[in-house]
Amino acid sequence: MFFFLRAHIDIIIGSWLNMPDMQKKIKVFDTTLRDGEQTPGVAFTLEKKLELAHALSDIGVDIIEAGFPINSEDEFRAVKQISSEADTKVCGLARALISDIDACLKADVDLVHTFISTSPQHLKYQMMKSEEEVCEMAVAAVEYIVDHGLPCLFSPMDATRSDLGYLVKVCKAVEEAGAGTINIPDTVGVIYPTEMKELIGKLRKEIHVDLDIHCHNDFGMAVANTLAAVEAGCNQVQTTVNGLGERAGNADMAQVVMGLHVLYGVKTNIKTEKIYPLSKLVERLSGIRLMPNFPIVGDNAFAHESGIHVHAVLKKAETFEPINPEMVGARRRLVLGKHVGIHGVAAKLKELDIAVDSEQLREITSKVKDLGGKGKKVFEEDLIAIAEDILGMVPQAERKIVLIDLELQSKINKKPVASIILKVDGVEKNAKEDGVGPVDAVLNAIKSAVGREEILVEEYHLDAITGGSDALADVTIRVGDGRRTVMARGVHEDIVMASVIAFINGLNRLLRLG
Ligand code: KIV
Ligand code: ZN
Repeated sequence: MFFFLRAHIDIIIGSWLNMPDMQKKIKVFDTTLRDGEQTPGVAFTLEKKLELAHALSDIGVDIIEAGFPINSEDEFRAVKQISSEADTKVCGLARALISDIDACLKADVDLVHTFISTSPQHLKYQMMKSEEEVCEMAVAAVEYIVDHGLPCLFSPMDATRSDLGYLVKVCKAVEEAGAGTINIPDTVGVIYPTEMKELIGKLRKEIHVDLDIHCHNDFGMAVANTLAAVEAGCNQVQTTVNGLGERAGNADMAQVVMGLHVLYGVKTNIKTEKIYPLSKLVERLSGIRLMPNFPIVGDNAFAHESGIHVHAVLKKAETFEPINPEMVGARRRLVLGKHVGIHGVAAKLKELDIAVDSEQLREITSKVKDLGGKGKKVFEEDLIAIAEDILGMVPQAERKIVLIDLELQSKINKKPVASIILKVDGVEKNAKEDGVGPVDAVLNAIKSAVGREEILVEEYHLDAITGGSDALADVTIRVGDGRRTVMARGVHEDIVMASVIAFINGLNRLLRLG
């Protein structure tokens, strides 16, 4: 009730009108390629950085922080190339040191982001400098950037743990020196929204240039703090895709942008329908998988399982969806499991073009619930098998691909080789292929025998159902042919066989979909 009332009011007047310090349009400064790359274990190659920079440009971020050019030759080259290729403004990071700023200038960036710590902890233990010395270094850095004709973004690092009087003094000094934007970093993620509002409110009264906000997620408040800063007058937000970043990460772009658009009625230049595909790209290129319950872009963000929810969502999506998934380029998923109801199963069967009467539907639903209740993931493949069983179909005869035989040769220091014999539409086919490991070799041989080299394994997940080296291996696989993707599963004592069963199940399912 509250949401719909809010949404209704927002549509009519726009909630920014209720918050006098809020700007109507907020700029998005993306730091996925800089702070995001500081995520432990993440390093983007030049090719990956370029691909991401183009995707960030495409989605409409206002500024891309491409990296820290002084860091290494590779980093310098990446920032320079992004600067020459990207359609968006490109920023380079620099400590308040001439050498760092020169590296940014040489990389041909459009603006320089220079920073220096202002908190007592950093001054004493990291910088070993006095407040005066740091303030002088900050001013000198900003002047140097401005003298070289570039706009300057200045960050007093660890601002939220700095003495307010000193923070204001440094911000005013760099403003006078020519900084066009001042960013307030919550470097160790320790502020909370009410405090953030107060801090930005005070700074907004003292500083006249653009105010930017950079929040870390150590207490899970990066997004809330970013939004609070906007409420208090910041007109630029620093975010990363998928919330990547140092330690617990930075404020997530999707959540900040959708929070601004939907909850506050404030716009950005982000094309929201590109949010989900961008998140997937970053997941793939960073190797960091999102939790399924990650807001907006997680696998479960628009997934419904419980009977009550599915029934209502099928009638009117907004009953249990705060936004339409298409708004962020995602899709609604009806999930089969312990909590599923008759309407969810009916909708899934309809999607699969399987006609059932009401008695059969009840029976299928009860079997799906039983399977889910045993803690098993229930895939479409399982639903098809249950339906086939109850409808008295002959599943084996419907399968286009059937495994006849498999031989695997594996020697230490040699690529494993798999020889496979399949029946494809009743005709025997065989193939022999190698791979980086036994599973890869067998899957390559299957693709080759079926003559479908374009089939890709998009996801592969292995669970051991029981303990010990004879544990049952449960392989879940996502296969796609460029047009459609399906999930499939195989369970066997042998990992290779579990993978073969899952892959063949997936192929059969793809072929069945046509
Ligand atoms: O978290 C931080 O303080 C930073 C600065 C470089 C802005 O990333
Ligand atoms: Zn940071």
